[in-house]
Amino acid sequence: MGFSKDFLWGGATAANQYEGGWNEGGKGPSVPDHIRGGTVSAPRLWDKEIDPDIYYPSHQAVDFYHRYEEDIDLMGDMGFKCFRMSINWSRIYPTGMDENPNEEGIEFYHKVFRKLKERGIEPLVTLSHYELPWGLSEKYDGWYGRDVIDHFVRYAKTCFEAYKDEVKYWLTFNEINIGMSGFGKIMGLGMQGEDHQPMFKADNSPETLSRVFTALHHQFVASAKAVVIGHEINPEFRIGNMIAGMLGYGYTCNPNDVFAADQSFNMGNFFCGDVQVRGHYPYYAKRYFKDNGIKVEMEPGDEEILAKGTVDFYSFSYYMSSCISTDPEVTEKAAGNMFSGIKNPYLEASDWGWQIDPAGLRTYLNRVYGRYEVPLMVVENGLGANDEISEDGKIHDPYRIDYLRKHIKAMKEAVEDGVELMGYTMWGCVDLVSASTGEMKKRYGFIYVDRDNDGNGDFHREKKDSFDWYKKVIETNGEDLE
Ligand code: BG6
Repeated sequence: MGFSKDFLWGGATAANQYEGGWNEGGKGPSVPDHIRGGTVSAPRLWDKEIDPDIYYPSHQAVDFYHRYEEDIDLMGDMGFKCFRMSINWSRIYPTGMDENPNEEGIEFYHKVFRKLKERGIEPLVTLSHYELPWGLSEKYDGWYGRDVIDHFVRYAKTCFEAYKDEVKYWLTFNEINIGMSGFGKIMGLGMQGEDHQPMFKADNSPETLSRVFTALHHQFVASAKAVVIGHEINPEFRIGNMIAGMLGYGYTCNPNDVFAADQSFNMGNFFCGDVQVRGHYPYYAKRYFKDNGIKVEMEPGDEEILAKGTVDFYSFSYYMSSCISTDPEVTEKAAGNMFSGIKNPYLEASDWGWQIDPAGLRTYLNRVYGRYEVPLMVVENGLGANDEISEDGKIHDPYRIDYLRKHIKAMKEAVEDGVELMGYTMWGCVDLVSASTGEMKKRYGFIYVDRDNDGNGDFHREKKDSFDWYKKVIETNGEDLE
């Protein structure tokens, strides 16, 4: 028992947080290129017009665009089997609506894939990781516009055809379930509102929710169409979905808390999983839509497409857990990955208040595998921490090693429970920009990048202690975690 011999160990990134080169090589602006930096207490704002005097973290991010060879060599030295990255849609179609793709953009990713191949690393490519071209966001209010489906399918087809011999593993939409949150409205769905608003602004009116769930429906249809076309282009492709793993425990054994936690798991995780893995809307969605006054604009034929375009595997991010309470007196909240809940007295939290819960990963893996029985992949997991350079000039990050060790142990237990697990790509293997806060200070990597919250630094890379530790983990296929 233990991890399979072809287990995909590696790391994960997203173009808007990692790549930079935002206006180079013919790339057009994307939604994150309009979003400023922030902190936990000063949420990120977004601008309709990019202001040249304002610092936007995605513009240079950590400069993978110019440093991909160096980074991939470092990943190769760590023994990566797999590297999760996203293609920046507006590098391929600068406005999203262009007649022809941008050849320079296509060539950039060829160069990346060739370099990965040279180092024996399998790419896992997300087609859309919060990277809607700004042109589409502006013209259609993001995914609310049904036409965006066709633009996405054309983009996906271009990528599948261009890279059919270089990429086998694909994901359609990053954390598709995040679309239901305030954050996801602009980042995931590219839906605009008033200029200069904080990203996290939630509005739960029936009108807004109806637009949000219609936009999400458009993503479901787009994803299903892409899966069908991808399999036609190359039957060897393995195309997965990607869900933000949201685990909420009932705060007490009060049956009401337990039921509320189940309901929250349903809408938080299974709702999108059911549509993308089982190929249809689940039974409980009807009541949720009714209770919240939600009307989803669907068209004839959509149900058939959803049924045809089911994914080959289920992938997800997992960072933390929280609790759900029905008692109005229980109010102490925990911070979280685009979502939050009640604080759990049994758990410790990261520097950013995310509650650390390795056992929850085993629970999540078992619960999801039990429902779908398709291969699973953990495509994001990691610790955002405030790394300091020590007097010896090195970065000692035992807290990160401890976090990862415990989560890998939990995965191993799940594998021994019988869960079919394809791989593990730790989030932010090279330090990159935080999605929720826009900070650089919140670091996840095995590799440090010299860059700060205000955009200072020369981008040079340094190995942290966790670099050698993860190398050993991969070398021993997860047997030596000490
Ligand atoms: C996931 C996203 O939700 O969490 C990533 O897919 C993100 O894009 C990651 O970076 C960690 O969140 P944060 O806010 O710490 O960057």
